[in-house]
Amino acid sequence: MTTSSGLGSRSSELPKEQWVIDPETGEKSVKVGDINFPPRKVWMKTFGCQMNYHDTERVLSHLEGLNFTKTEDQGDADLVLFNTCAIRDLSNQKFYSKLGDTQHLKKKNPNVKVGVGGCVAQTEGKELINKYKHLDFSFGTDVIDTINELVYRSYAGEDPFAINTWDRSQNFSIETKVTHGSPQAFVNIIKGCNKCCSYCIVPFTRGKEKSRLLQEVVDDCRKLVEYQGIQEITLLGQNVNSYGKENGESLAKLITELDKINGLELIRYTTSHPYDVSDELIEVHGSAKKLSRHLHLPVQSGSNSCLERMLREYTVEHYLGLLEKLRKAKPDIVLSTDIIAGFVNETEEEHQATLDLLTEAQYDFIYSYAYSQRAKTRASRWEDSLTDDVRGMRLREIQAHQTVIQENIRQTLVGKKFTVLVDGHGFKGGDKKWKGRTNCMRIVHFLPENIEQDLQWHWVDVELTSATAFSCQAKLLKVHGRRMPSEAIRF
Ligand code: 5AD
Ligand code: SF4
Repeated sequence: MTTSSGLGSRSSELPKEQWVIDPETGEKSVKVGDINFPPRKVWMKTFGCQMNYHDTERVLSHLEGLNFTKTEDQGDADLVLFNTCAIRDLSNQKFYSKLGDTQHLKKKNPNVKVGVGGCVAQTEGKELINKYKHLDFSFGTDVIDTINELVYRSYAGEDPFAINTWDRSQNFSIETKVTHGSPQAFVNIIKGCNKCCSYCIVPFTRGKEKSRLLQEVVDDCRKLVEYQGIQEITLLGQNVNSYGKENGESLAKLITELDKINGLELIRYTTSHPYDVSDELIEVHGSAKKLSRHLHLPVQSGSNSCLERMLREYTVEHYLGLLEKLRKAKPDIVLSTDIIAGFVNETEEEHQATLDLLTEAQYDFIYSYAYSQRAKTRASRWEDSLTDDVRGMRLREIQAHQTVIQENIRQTLVGKKFTVLVDGHGFKGGDKKWKGRTNCMRIVHFLPENIEQDLQWHWVDVELTSATAFSCQAKLLKVHGRRMPSEAIRF
């Protein structure tokens, strides 16, 4: 039997779901086989990257079919779920401490179910189930679309179980689920990663690359725009630059097609591997009207010998050549990157080369991390002469160096106009300030025209009035409304 959720052809043991309304109370429940699902609450905590946040959205959307609604209050939940990240030890530790906290929930209410999904569940699911007696089930990264079957099995009384199988079907076929009612959507176009960077656990937690067919993604995005009011789409994958290789398709072709969708305003994609950035894609950065003027291109290190040990498949010269071509194709493109500080046996010279690269590349912002040893990776098998103290010191040095660079870049933005999709507000010094991201991914804060003005999900034009390395303040120039008028100039 296959699921009725339009999520491709994953086989499922789940009997057909049937909605029933109690004639006396009017309460809706879902009957699945012999099991009744009354209205219940699910609380889900996500760790890690955008892919994980996207997976969480999918899980919550599926669970609506079993009568679950989301709660922000863990104490109010019938089902407690974690979506875990394994990329660095710190993310692991954060999850384990939160998981420990859920023991008392189960003592208070033995009917509460606890499940763990995501990257840690993929690699350590069985150990988790054996070790944590209050856990009911664990599910890996490739079975998230069968969540309802797993929850059903648990409510049917099955002993705690761990599932971390890989989806063996030839195609990767899904339909994007959106539950949050915003005009922004993440669309997963490729899963897995075929690279073997020596520090990285992702190939073990996310498996081999598999792309969705271009036509399926285009149809999916068109539906999101037409029926769900989506205006901004972020294409997601561990390495989106590899998208479509196995089907003779490419990210450049996909963006070119998406660029034609009426009503779609902005296309972003993440995350990229420099090795797979093609000339065709660089050209598309120049030609596609809706493609963001921002590119996140993780470099990891500014030293060729370090990049070689990291098995990154490019040199600093090749990488800088890409930046040059990108800036030629799109002169105002904004760039950002990821850096790993203190990789295995990194020398002081190699570290200095990374600082030099930051100066040369002039990134708008960076994400930087101290190297963290991950089980199963190649680098974890090497003797390492570096201490965590040195790693910490180098990380701080990298961050301080970049802060000066980005402060200087941002100073030059004062007086410039930007079109922003407003995504929230906060209070600063007693003032209510709205915020949003520019096309080129900078977050800006600004005051409304009056305190009552509700600008959520409005397109507005702003002018930057001041900027520091980490925040941009602006003044509101114009409110376009919830849709951008077609004739309006986009800054
Ligand atoms: N240690 C530290 N940082 C890592 N990253 C990936 N693996 C590790 C690791 N073992 C960083 C890389 C990657 C980002 C998502 O996380 O910079 O681009
Ligand atoms: Fe973390 Fe990588 Fe898994 Fe994302 S894919 S959650 S970054 S381990």
